[in-house]
Order: sequence, then structure tokens, then C-alpha cells
Amino acid sequence: MTLLELDGVHAYYGASHILRGVSMAIDEGEVVSLLGRNGAGKTTTVRSIVGVEPPEVRSGSVRFDGADVTEWPADDIVRAGVGVVPEGRRLFTELTVEENLEMSNIARGRWNTIYRRAPGGGSPTMTVNELYDLFPRLEERRDQRSGTLSGGEQQMLSIARTLRLPDLQLLLLDEPTEGLAPQIIQSVSESIREITGQGLTVLLIEQNVREALKLADRGYVLDQGEIVYEGTVGELEREDLDQYLVV
Ligand SMILES: Nc1ncnc2c1ncn2[C@@H]1O[C@H](COP(=O)(O)OP(=O)(O)OP(=O)(O)O)[C@@H](O)[C@H]1O
Ligand SMILES: [Mg+2]
Repeated sequence: MTLLELDGVHAYYGASHILRGVSMAIDEGEVVSLLGRNGAGKTTTVRSIVGVEPPEVRSGSVRFDGADVTEWPADDIVRAGVGVVPEGRRLFTELTVEENLEMSNIARGRWNTIYRRAPGGGSPTMTVNELYDLFPRLEERRDQRSGTLSGGEQQMLSIARTLRLPDLQLLLLDEPTEGLAPQIIQSVSESIREITGQGLTVLLIEQNVREALKLADRGYVLDQGEIVYEGTVGELEREDLDQYLVV
């Protein structure tokens, strides 16, 4: 079954026309990579899916789990089961690792709205202990303020925190390996592989093609706001896409 479908999405920042008819589809249980170099429109695509403005989607549609969510506010889309690990890992830097993971301690701001469910709503997708199994590094640092974590540890925490969302069906990862050393990339990638092994559907945004192809089933290549290539990992590996990608 198709879980997420973008059909001819045009997105704008004011007069600036960024996404020019982006269409893509992700089936339940798939790991799909969205590739493209700096400024291609990857983050804009994520924001268009989740309903965060800007940008403004002026035509085309986004469907999730059978519903047309194009006009839905971000909070509703998150409640429907879409989790985003944003670019740049926005953590509550003053809070400890564990406080970041314990929803009950997050008493302010948007996350409170996002995490809150209607009475009888779902429970978190993963427990804090399950997350510590997935990211042992975070358990070692459970009492450390998150602002003092290394870049790789912050990325792990950012992913882990998103997995606390209830009833998660689709995880959007915006450049999870950006700026990380090779060894840490490997460790983050292994955790992502474990998550995907549990049946979660994932859209993995990457500039790093090799990392993306290790994890994904299929991929789309975005360039200047247009999908210029789509294929299986095997096809992407054979195709000469260097002009669109960081290789
Ligand atoms: N808030 C904004 N206002 C105006 N233009 C924007 C805004 N955000 C992004 N853009 C522009 O939209 C284009 C696409 O940006 P986007 O962030 O989607 O790229 P990206 O593919 O995620 O790149 P990167 O790999 O560097 O994160 C860029 O030209 C960028 O300058
Ligand atoms: Mg980006």
C-alpha cells in the first residue's frame, strides 16, 4: 500500500519557485532515499510534506495514509504518524539526554503540542529503554545536558526523540549523517538500519550517496526542484548521476 504520495507539488518561498512539480511515492515498509546536492530542494520537500510553512504549496497534493494532507497543519500530520528528524538536530540543549526523551518533562513549546494525544491515543512508538538499547551511547550519557553532546550523539538523540512519538508510521530523516565523522556515520547508519528492520517506513534525505544506498530500497534524485531520476538502488548505482550528487 502507498503510504506517502506527492503529486505534482509546486512550493514557493514568496515569489521564489522552488519545487517544480515534485511527484514521488513511498510504499509501506519501504526505505526511500531522496538525493540531491545543496539547495536542490530536499528540506523544502520535507517541509512541504509536513505542512511547516514556509514554503507554501501552491499546487499539487500530498497524500498520507489515504488522506489528502496538503492543507493539514504540521501538528495534525505528526499526530497522524509522521515523525521528522530535522536538519541541524534541534534539541532542548539545556535539558539532559533523558529529559529530552521523557515527554513528560517537556513542558513547553511546540513539542508539547506535538506529543500530546487525545485521551485514549497511542503510546510512544519506542520506550526510553528500547531507545537506550538502540543507542547505548545515549544511556551512558543520560544525565548529560544535550547541548554538550558531540555532533554524532546529538544526531542519535534527535532520532531517538522522534521515535518517542506515538504511533509513528513514517520517519523523515533530513541528512542524518551530515557533518559526522565516518565512524559515527557508521554507528548512526546501523541504528537507522535497526529502525527500518522494525518495519517503519523511512524517507532518508542524503547528499552522501553511498550512505543512502546502503540503507535504501529505492531512490529519487532531486535537482533544482525537479525529480530528475528515480530507480532502485541497483539502478542508481549503475547510472551516472555525478552531476546531480555529491559522490
Ligand atoms: N525560508 C526560505 N526563504 C527563501 N528561500 C529559501 C528558504 N529556505 C530555503 N530556500 C531556498 O530554497 C532552495 C532549496 O533549499 P532547501 O533547503 O530545500 O535545499 P536542500 O536540498 O535541503 O539543501 P541542503 O542539502 O543544503 O540542505 C535554496 O535555493 C534555498 O536558498
Ligand atoms: Mg536541506
